[in-house]
Amino acid sequence: MKETREWLEKDRRYVWHPMSGHDPEASKMLMAEADGAWISDADGNRYLDGMAGQWSVNVGYGREELARAAYEQLKIMPFYPLVQSHQPAIELAEKLNEWLDGEYVIFYSNSGSEANDTAFKIARQYHQQNGEPGRWKFIARYRGYHGNTLGSLAATGHAQRKYRYEPLAPGFLHVQPPDPYRCVYCNDRDECGPECGLRYAQEIERVINWELPDTVAGVIMEPIITGGGIVVPPDGYVEEVARICERTGVLLILDEVICGFGRTGKRFGFQHYGIKPDIVTMAKGLTSSYMPLSATAVRRELFEKFNGTEEYGRFRHINTFGGHPAACAVAIRNMEIMEEEGLPERSAEMGEKLRKQISGLENHPNVGQVRNKGLLFGIELVEDKESKQPADADMMNRVIAACKSKGLIVGKNGDTVPGFNNVLTLCPPLNITEEDLKFVAETLKESFEQPAKDGRSAKVEQPVRPPIA
Ligand SMILES: Cc1ncc(COP(=O)(O)O)c(C=O)c1O
Repeated sequence: MKETREWLEKDRRYVWHPMSGHDPEASKMLMAEADGAWISDADGNRYLDGMAGQWSVNVGYGREELARAAYEQLKIMPFYPLVQSHQPAIELAEKLNEWLDGEYVIFYSNSGSEANDTAFKIARQYHQQNGEPGRWKFIARYRGYHGNTLGSLAATGHAQRKYRYEPLAPGFLHVQPPDPYRCVYCNDRDECGPECGLRYAQEIERVINWELPDTVAGVIMEPIITGGGIVVPPDGYVEEVARICERTGVLLILDEVICGFGRTGKRFGFQHYGIKPDIVTMAKGLTSSYMPLSATAVRRELFEKFNGTEEYGRFRHINTFGGHPAACAVAIRNMEIMEEEGLPERSAEMGEKLRKQISGLENHPNVGQVRNKGLLFGIELVEDKESKQPADADMMNRVIAACKSKGLIVGKNGDTVPGFNNVLTLCPPLNITEEDLKFVAETLKESFEQPAKDGRSAKVEQPVRPPIA
């Protein structure tokens, strides 16, 4: 314990954590070990990681074969940049093509943000070289998160993440996302279906037309909004957006950074909708976060417009570590594990089970809606079901703290949409066992059984689950 305290004192002194500033009172957990769906801190307290790290450890913790894949590759050849080539990068690109159901050329980077910035540059240059140099704008949706760089943050529709960093990259426009729980078209009657899906898609078409189609390069979206509050679109929406893009010559960029690699019950989220995106971006689950790696998959026809022999016709974009051989080796083995264990299908199956196990939650006065696609869950908390007034931060934190005190980590859509940071998120490893899934369901239910309003300020700092023996 003393040692932990010493580490955390040094942490406060030297480490600047994400989404944080100088706060002498802030305390962190010192995470130390992980196995399966469980993580433990330096004092041996165990938690079921209901967020799979950062929506990302899809095959679960403790996979020695992934460590071995990195080790073996590091021994053979630790690094060479992709200005030349190497076998792991080629093999992974081939495998991604098998998963994508189409012919794509793969550009590697290190993070989801970079994968999206890469997509924006490719889209703009493609149009320039395809005889439509005026196409430079991108349309995204409010609530969608696309990254932290000046480009990917510009695409992001979270005002609270942008505040004090603007101006960001120009040329990014936002439209209203679908929101079946608070639907502006069917008036929240819980009937949000294809008609509403069509109308939300038409918002995108309207902006394309108002901006002039000749100026619009692309639409970027997640198939299901994740960090912005788990918004599963109404039927027909994604398909209609794809048709609109095709009709107007706008490239469709699918951000699969969270939805990819089995998370929603298919290999990629877009595969629920039978569409063929022009560009697909991915990260996180690509290596299950055992190594940093991201990819921008580009339809071959687009790639062919990049004349490699003209001075400015080629893609003049490079990063040092993208396609790192060890990261590629890990990604290949990670995808093989997903195939061998049928993890995308398992995600669909376990998602259904969890949905049934927690169905009673919907009767709780502060639960507005439970929604999921595979093992991607959102639980929207409200002050009361009638008004749908979003729950405040205190209520959110109280449920999260109650879960944590019982040994379950859950997330929330923090700092996204002003006034609507009221969705609890769950996104456990896809190989979660039946027993662990029951633990998630029981713990959630118990955490909600505590009165919603009473004792709000009771902060639970220490988990009660016993240390590992
Ligand atoms: C949908 C989506 N796109 C892009 C990103 C950015 O990825 P990274 O944090 O690896 O830059 C994230 C990160 O959470 C994300 O959720």
